[in-house]
Amino acid sequence: MSPRQHCRHADHNDPGAVGSAGGGGLDTPATPATPKHRSPADGIQLYTRISMVGEGTYGKVYKARNKETGQIVALKRMRVDMDREGFPITAMREIRLLKLLRHPNITNVLDVVPESGNAICVVMEYMDYDLSGLINHPQWDPEPAHKKSLMLQLLEGLDFMHTRGILHRDIKGSNLLVNQHGQVKYVDFGLARSFHHTRMQELTNRVITLWYRPPELLLGTTLYGPEVDIWSLGCVILELFTKKPAFQGQNDIDQLEQIFKLLGTPSPAIWESLKKLPWACYMTPNTRYENRLRQMLSTKMATSAVDLISWMLLLDPAARPSAKQCLGHGFFTEAPAPVPPTSFPVSGDWHEYESKAERRKRKQVSKQHSQLPSNA
Ligand SMILES: Nc1ncnc2c1ncn2[C@@H]1O[C@H](COP(=O)(O)OP(=O)(O)OP(=O)(O)O)[C@@H](O)[C@H]1O
Ligand SMILES: [Mg+2]
Repeated sequence: MSPRQHCRHADHNDPGAVGSAGGGGLDTPATPATPKHRSPADGIQLYTRISMVGEGTYGKVYKARNKETGQIVALKRMRVDMDREGFPITAMREIRLLKLLRHPNITNVLDVVPESGNAICVVMEYMDYDLSGLINHPQWDPEPAHKKSLMLQLLEGLDFMHTRGILHRDIKGSNLLVNQHGQVKYVDFGLARSFHHTRMQELTNRVITLWYRPPELLLGTTLYGPEVDIWSLGCVILELFTKKPAFQGQNDIDQLEQIFKLLGTPSPAIWESLKKLPWACYMTPNTRYENRLRQMLSTKMATSAVDLISWMLLLDPAARPSAKQCLGHGFFTEAPAPVPPTSFPVSGDWHEYESKAERRKRKQVSKQHSQLPSNA
């Protein structure tokens, strides 16, 4: 998706930012993952690039092979402009967090190697798909038990992060990787940071990709916590069922309008602290919309799934559940039992990158067809 309207340099001067000197929460130094018997000169020479699988804000992601072991890995190449700003804080945060947050549902960093031309490569376990690529694939039609497994894993990963005092702040399909065993893992911790469980702190407002950004951020709050990630994950889960992003705003105002059109215009009765938000008085629409979510979803999924999604997408952030509360929801104990998906429409490599390239190709072909003379 295009609207990547958030600030990658968020919280630079904020002492609580992960990776900065006074970072709260996880402050244990990262243990280097240097394999035995490796000389520093080996570095990037150890890997053969196979193909590009992602192109992000901070560089490119490649599928590669370790020449010694044959292991397939992902290489995320990040530029490091030493002259301008030293080692970029976002890269530092990301590497630090990915190394610290060891969990089956968080992508594992294997190594970090220097590359020529002021760059470093983060070597990660390779994941064949991302959720955005899969959702956009016309032939991917997971069973209810598969969706339940993905939801469970996503909530377990999020609960782990939140329990350790970390907010992701950029949850969306392209940052959720899936492998052929049906495991799903969080990646891209460039915007993540620590938070205090007991004391809310001022944080930057410009985080989370627009379509997954919760209403309180769109209304200007700088005091927030894990409930912003719960909203984003609620949007991704909804997308898993409907196959398209729920709120596709063109800008902040349009984004809010789209949210309210589906979830109803908020009133102090359902969102008590709304009026305290900085931009509430001039960004809340005058039109009164009713909540249409249940009506829209009733034919698409079990009632308990609708309940869970509606809970995660409550407009009032204070009323939204924690990841742990979501895990305790009845949806996960009723039939069908969760089963990881292991059958995919492509045998490997299907991320947002390939999915977008395929769409571009299809558009090009249909444009060429429409330009052909009618009797051709
Ligand atoms: N370990 C991995 N295995 C396979 N693919 C990966 C891996 N890590 C990242 N990718 C792919 O590369 C894309 C970009 O990676 P990532 O999100 O980490 O980079 P970014 O620069 O932060 O991107 P953006 O700014 O677009 O979010 C991901 O959306 C995913 O499709
Ligand atoms: Mg990303």
